[in-house]
Amino acid sequence: MKKRKKHYSIMLSMMLVTSGLYFAPVNLTSQVKAATQNLADPSTKAFDQKVIARISAERIYKDIHFFSETIGPRVTGTEGEERAAEYIKERLLSYGYKVETQEFSVPDKMIGHLHTSDHNEVLVNIPAGSAATPNEGVTAKLFNAGLGKVTDFTVEATGKIALISRGEITFKEKVDNAVAAGAIGVLIYDNINQPGPLNPSIGGNVPVPVGGISKVSGEALLQDVAAQSKTVTLNVNRIENAKSQNIIATRAPNKGKNHDILHVSAHIDSVPFAAGANDNASGTAVALELANVLKSYPIDKELRFVFVGAEEIGLVGSEYYVSQLSQEEVGRSIANFNMDMVGTAWENATAIYMNTLDGKANIVTDTALATAQRIGTPSQLVLYQRGSSDHVSFHDAGIPAVNFIRREPGTANLEPYYHTPLDKIEHISLERLKEAGDLVGASVYSLIRK
Ligand code: BES
Ligand code: ZN
Repeated sequence: MKKRKKHYSIMLSMMLVTSGLYFAPVNLTSQVKAATQNLADPSTKAFDQKVIARISAERIYKDIHFFSETIGPRVTGTEGEERAAEYIKERLLSYGYKVETQEFSVPDKMIGHLHTSDHNEVLVNIPAGSAATPNEGVTAKLFNAGLGKVTDFTVEATGKIALISRGEITFKEKVDNAVAAGAIGVLIYDNINQPGPLNPSIGGNVPVPVGGISKVSGEALLQDVAAQSKTVTLNVNRIENAKSQNIIATRAPNKGKNHDILHVSAHIDSVPFAAGANDNASGTAVALELANVLKSYPIDKELRFVFVGAEEIGLVGSEYYVSQLSQEEVGRSIANFNMDMVGTAWENATAIYMNTLDGKANIVTDTALATAQRIGTPSQLVLYQRGSSDHVSFHDAGIPAVNFIRREPGTANLEPYYHTPLDKIEHISLERLKEAGDLVGASVYSLIRK
């Protein structure tokens, strides 16, 4: 692996934090200098070496490959998510952990399929509130309804599926206008180029099936199907009584009881149509490798790995996990290290952000900064105020929590592949996986080691 010039700048908002205020991260030049000097002769301790010498980026990469390319999308409540959970469980058992599958219900949702009479498949998102179709779907000609305004419809729309462009009026208004004109279904296509299908949100229930598709798909349907009076078939099914699960691996010290608990978490689900290599096979696979490396060293705290389901539908799995902790367990919980999107190769994502819900430092950020100094983590660490991942659930339960995530420094931008079908293994960096594993692994070990 290419050895990068060790650029070491730590961005902190310590002073602002102690004064109770939070602003954008401040670069403490003196710390940067001190840290840069350390790098010439990293003060990595023997206990850090025990961890980082054993963390294998190749093993992490292979697991990401399995999750993102072999399984593919791991949408909440689907077989893909369950398969990932089973794989993780087997692995953790093989490492000797006590492993629990914690199952929970997820809300009903709609899924859809769209194909043309020429058997071309079109990726489609179905919004909550869409009507379902009979099993065979609805088959109809398309009506080009422009932007879906009242004046865009004619009597020709009756009995057809209205094909409507995004823009100018709300999705709900477009659907209402189509229904009023006698359309039996609605397809809304994007007006900007995005890799995945549009996700229209229509508010309440409507009496016809509704789907969102990409700009490219919409324009192709206009040219091909609508122009030549071919048909499309839209199937919409309600998925009911779906289950998701958290996989929890525990390791307690040999002696005594009521030890402090440290939770390492990563979500295993992805959004639809995304292989989720970075979001979040990366965090999942790094956590699995940490479970491997930390499986047998003597420890004086309880270590839990929580592989979380149903994150992408609103942190459902992690909320369930913390809701099942007793008050006593919450009281013993000292930290949550959450990894979500730690492996992107996107060149601008040169910083490791430590997102906390309140933007304040805590035991996790302090420990990670101290570890980064000792081991010479090449990337900047940035303390930043942000929710949007499972650390929120731990924080809400009163447990100091951090989401480790790679972003572009300054802008805090995420990689452009985020939540798209482009989130694939080719945009994963072995070097950055190793960096995240070393940082979080050595931090965790520094807290739990005997
Ligand atoms: N992997 C992202 C994490 C993330 C963190 C995204 C910070 C953006 C900013 C996560 O899986 C995600 O997409 N979260 C959702 C919110 C969640 C509550 C469904 C999001 O940010 O849209
Ligand atoms: Zn995520």
